[in-house]
Amino acid sequence: MNTFQEAPALQERPQNDEPISLRIPVPEDGAPIHNLIRKSAFLDDNSLYCYLVIATHFSQTSVVATMGDDLVGVVTGYSPPEQPDTLFVWQVAVDTLAQKRGLAGRMLRELVRRDACKDVHYVETTVTADNQASRAMFQSLARRLDCDIKESEMFDREKHFLNLHDSEYKLRIGPFDAKTLGDEGDHK
Ligand SMILES: CC(C)(COP(=O)(O)OP(=O)(O)OC[C@H]1O[C@@H](n2cnc3c(N)ncnc32)[C@H](O)[C@@H]1OP(=O)(O)O)[C@@H](O)C(=O)NCCC(=O)NCCS
Repeated sequence: MNTFQEAPALQERPQNDEPISLRIPVPEDGAPIHNLIRKSAFLDDNSLYCYLVIATHFSQTSVVATMGDDLVGVVTGYSPPEQPDTLFVWQVAVDTLAQKRGLAGRMLRELVRRDACKDVHYVETTVTADNQASRAMFQSLARRLDCDIKESEMFDREKHFLNLHDSEYKLRIGPFDAKTLGDEGDHK
C-alpha cells in the first residue's frame, strides 16, 4: 500500500507574503523535495530514496527554500570526486507560485558562497535543448559571476538514453570567484 500523502499544491493554498528562507536540507526534507520534483516540468521523477540520500550525504552542496511550513524550492548538487573545483548542479525546482521572483538565482548564489564550496570555481549542469527557463537561469548566474559558459553534449539521446530521453547538454560556467558576488539582497 502506498501510504505516501501528497501535500496540497501550493496554488491551492491561500497566497501570503511570508518571506522565503534558505537552508541546508535535512533527511525529513526528502519527501517534500520528491513531491516538488514530481510536480516540476522537465525534471525526471526519481525515487524518494534518491532524495533522502541527497538530503543526507549531499546536504552541504544542496539547498531548500521554505515559505512557512512549505518547501517551495530546491537545488540538489555535489562536487564530482575527481573535480573538487566544480559544483555539479543536478536538479533545480521552484514551486510554480514562487517562480520568476528570483528564487532559483538566490539559491544558486547561496550555494556557491557556502564554506563547502570555498574551492569551487566552476558550476556544471546539464540542460535539454528546449528548456529555456533553465538556460536563462544559468546564463543569469554566469552574468552575475562575470564569467563564460561553455556548452557541449554530455548524454546523447541515442547513445546514452536509448531514445528514451532528449540529449542533455553540459553547461560549464566559470572560472569564477564567488567572493566577487555582491550581497544583492540575498541575505533576507
Ligand atoms: C527553472 C526554474 C527553476 C527557474 O526558477 P525561478 O525561481 O522562476 O527563476 P528566477 O526567478 O531565479 O530566474 C532566474 C533567471 O532566469 C530567467 N527565467 C526564469 N524563468 C524563465 C522562463 N520561464 N523563461 C525565460 N527566462 C526565465 C529569469 O528572468 C532570471 O533571469 P535574470 O536574472 O536575467 O532576470 C523554474 O522555472 C522551474 O522550477 N522549472 C521547472 C524545473 C526545471 O526546468 N529546472 C531546471 C532544470 S534542472
